Amino acid sequence: MASTASRVFVPRFVQLHHGNAAAVRAELAAGLQASAAFTSPKYLYDALGSRLFDAITELPEYYPTRTEAAIFDRHGPAMAALIPVGLTLVDLGAGNCQKAARLFELLHPARYVAVDISVAFLRDALTALQCQHPGLDMLGVGLDFSAQLTLPPDAGEGSRLVFYPGSSIGNFTPEDALVFLRQARQAANGGAVLIGVDLIKPVAVLEAAYDDALGVTAAFNRSLLRHINHLLGSDFEVGQWRHRARFNAQDARIEMHLEALQDLTVRWPGAQRHFGEGEHIHTENSCKYTPPQFDALLREAGFSRVEQWRDEQDWFAVFLARD
Ligand code: AVJ
Repeated sequence: MASTASRVFVPRFVQLHHGNAAAVRAELAAGLQASAAFTSPKYLYDALGSRLFDAITELPEYYPTRTEAAIFDRHGPAMAALIPVGLTLVDLGAGNCQKAARLFELLHPARYVAVDISVAFLRDALTALQCQHPGLDMLGVGLDFSAQLTLPPDAGEGSRLVFYPGSSIGNFTPEDALVFLRQARQAANGGAVLIGVDLIKPVAVLEAAYDDALGVTAAFNRSLLRHINHLLGSDFEVGQWRHRARFNAQDARIEMHLEALQDLTVRWPGAQRHFGEGEHIHTENSCKYTPPQFDALLREAGFSRVEQWRDEQDWFAVFLARD
């Protein structure tokens, strides 16, 4: 009797970046003590922050997630026609792995590599996904790729599709985005990069997306203070701070800030910082591009074949970049 040997995989996990608690405290303290105080947006995503971000993606004002999904629904087959089957699909900032899972039927990858800052965030999602796709080799990688995108040997040889959806590239300044895109091109190893990019649009639309009527984005931003208290041992009082989101037209980015509602002092082991009423902590940049600007950035990063698909309103773009 003929039998087809079909291999059944179990997901593998590797943690490359070990959050060093002392280094995290030093980084946070340095940002809080800078004359224009700032914190890295990565600290927005603790367990509660990640749930609040998921809630943001459901808000009527927050157009990026649903607009990008509509672009994939409509143009996915056209994208797939340009991407070889059997690649390794590398999902940067995979989280619940749902966006990449929708690409499996379209792209037929040979391997799925889910990358997120902590491998702990990937365990449940990847284990569940492996049950639905037992024949797909799956690897979860814990890595802070915002610092350096270097995949482990377990990610395998051969060409890869580096998938970076959701306009997360907007957290980088254009200069840092260029550095990142060069690394993504190296990681693709002759394959391709598929990336979601938020576009410049009327300021009222942009600002509403980052300051919604329900206050979910405000909660997401203010929740950062509780996470910092946990990491740094500081005594921020969330009630003393308000959320601000404004479009900086000069730098083409939404900036999120936390603004002190009164004169106050924040203390943590070994140091403190006074904030005057109205003083800000800059917590996130979300850079926006025109389609020609992002096309040019991809070419500067070394890609020579660049395709793009947009929604009817030109609010969001998905770019496919190849050597
Ligand atoms: C996850 C970085 C893509 O910039 O739109 C959403 C984060 N901040 N609302 C974005 C975010 C406030 C989001 N990214």
